[in-house]
Amino acid sequence: MEDLRVNLCGIELDNPVIPASGTFGYGYEFAELYDINVLGTFSFKGTTREPRYGNPLPRIAECTAGIINSIGLQNPGVEKVVAEELLKLKKCFNKPVIANVSGFSVEDYVYSCGKLDREPQVGWLEVNVSCPNVHGGGMSLGTDANKVSEIVKAVKKVVKKPVIVKLTPNVTDIVAIAKACEDAGADGICLINTLTGMRIDLKTKRPVIANKIGGFSGPAVFPVAMRMVWQVTDAVRIPVVGCGGVSSAEDVIEMMLAGATAVEVGAANLVNPFACRDIIEDLPETMRKYGIARLRDVIGGAK
Ligand code: SIN
Repeated sequence: MEDLRVNLCGIELDNPVIPASGTFGYGYEFAELYDINVLGTFSFKGTTREPRYGNPLPRIAECTAGIINSIGLQNPGVEKVVAEELLKLKKCFNKPVIANVSGFSVEDYVYSCGKLDREPQVGWLEVNVSCPNVHGGGMSLGTDANKVSEIVKAVKKVVKKPVIVKLTPNVTDIVAIAKACEDAGADGICLINTLTGMRIDLKTKRPVIANKIGGFSGPAVFPVAMRMVWQVTDAVRIPVVGCGGVSSAEDVIEMMLAGATAVEVGAANLVNPFACRDIIEDLPETMRKYGIARLRDVIGGAK
């Protein structure tokens, strides 16, 4: 009997498969399709202090082997997430959930993380410093190691639960940013968020996305995510959650061999809402095929 369990920052997961923030709503939407308790956990939609309508339409451009999004952190705001979304989730999910938090200032992160930290179902805070769609020109707070460090230190002062920092790949030196997170007291790192990209419509001769630039994800970015997971897990001691283009049980194992403790699945959920369930179902047979008895034993196994 294959053992799929992994431990993420002190909390045991039944398996390492985690739907990524922004591709799984607040979970209960998918519970209409299948029992979401099969998941290791999931990361809920990026939540901000105030409600946000998001960016103008169109916000999506389809690409070969991926998708560009510029949603702009559409969400009902942290008060409503606590009062309404988490109540709905509690009825269909009986595991700890990852609270993905975005902000525009240190104070925003402190406020929202502090509030979500007090929610019993929140197991981890995923501090998202990597959304490319809200600061103009595809920049995010996470490109500045000092700023990231300031946010992490401030959040750590007001929360008790593990803080995982979600990083952007749109930097020259991902290792420097990851080390800044570890030095600031982060309990884990998630990488990668989307790569900035754009498309132009030949008929209109204008950018497809109203915001012009968006975040590119999907199978095409998998090797980039692999490289960054490899480099960062060489450089830090805190656990790394791999993310980027994962769409099969083989991809999950490959990312764990590079050093990931758990693996987030994003764009694949947009193609097939059952993607995470299917990957979890495929894992035991894939483990047998490659002679793996305990999935946690492959973490960093390729080093
Ligand atoms: C968005 O809402 O624009 C995407 C969120 C993200 O990339 O962090």
